[in-house]
Amino acid sequence: MKILKKKASDPKTTLFIFCNPHNPTGRVWKEEELDKLSEIIEKHKLWVISDEIHCDLIRAGQKHIPLGKTMPEYKKLITCMAPSKTFNLAGLMISNIIIHDEKLKDIWLNRHYNFDNPLSIAAAQAAYEKGGEWLEELQIYLDENFRFTEEYFAANLPKARFRISEATYLAWVDLSAYFDKSEDLPLFFAYNAGVLLEGGNMFVQNSDSFIRLNLACPKATLAEGLKRINKAIGQQNNVL
Ligand SMILES: Cc1ncc(COP(=O)(O)O)c(C=O)c1O
Repeated sequence: MKILKKKASDPKTTLFIFCNPHNPTGRVWKEEELDKLSEIIEKHKLWVISDEIHCDLIRAGQKHIPLGKTMPEYKKLITCMAPSKTFNLAGLMISNIIIHDEKLKDIWLNRHYNFDNPLSIAAAQAAYEKGGEWLEELQIYLDENFRFTEEYFAANLPKARFRISEATYLAWVDLSAYFDKSEDLPLFFAYNAGVLLEGGNMFVQNSDSFIRLNLACPKATLAEGLKRINKAIGQQNNVL
């Protein structure tokens, strides 16, 4: 919060982009944190884009609180949500952009690509109206994939630092105990394990030895992927 306060007070700062829940760490921001954040935003009158696209995909027992709930009267807030991740509808290119400021809303409506595909609207509507039960089942399946991944790392790669994320379908894993910072992990796993994954430094600073795994897949695929990752790390560390 100290760094954030300092950056927010810089007159050059006019916009704050927030990710809630956070990708790639999967952090679900808590009420006290959102309250503190709102205070800073309001004090410095910042524009805010709150990207809440992962809000439906949270672990059992977690609760998503939209930033807008902690600052309902604030006009400079734009909240972005979408059915694309939750219901795997990315190809239909439809999202929900919630704009409080009337002037900005007009600008948005005038300038953005002004055609809504009727198929996308029908799909989004069907997903939100009828997809509740499916989503509940998906959450249970994802929770199990996370539990399985945690157990697998603990048993086979105990030096991997991994905590079940509070949201998203993404596992954020620190492999610094097994690799030098300079190793290109996506290339390493593509060539040595036949597994395509993303390297941490694609997303945030100081995360060269992190990988991001997509757990939104059948458990058998996940098990095979983890087995290959484990084997490739084993071979690499035997060589070292
Ligand atoms: C936090 C976040 N925002 C936005 C997007 C983009 O979503 P879409 O595929 O609906 O454009 C992603 C997808 O990777 C994401 O993780």
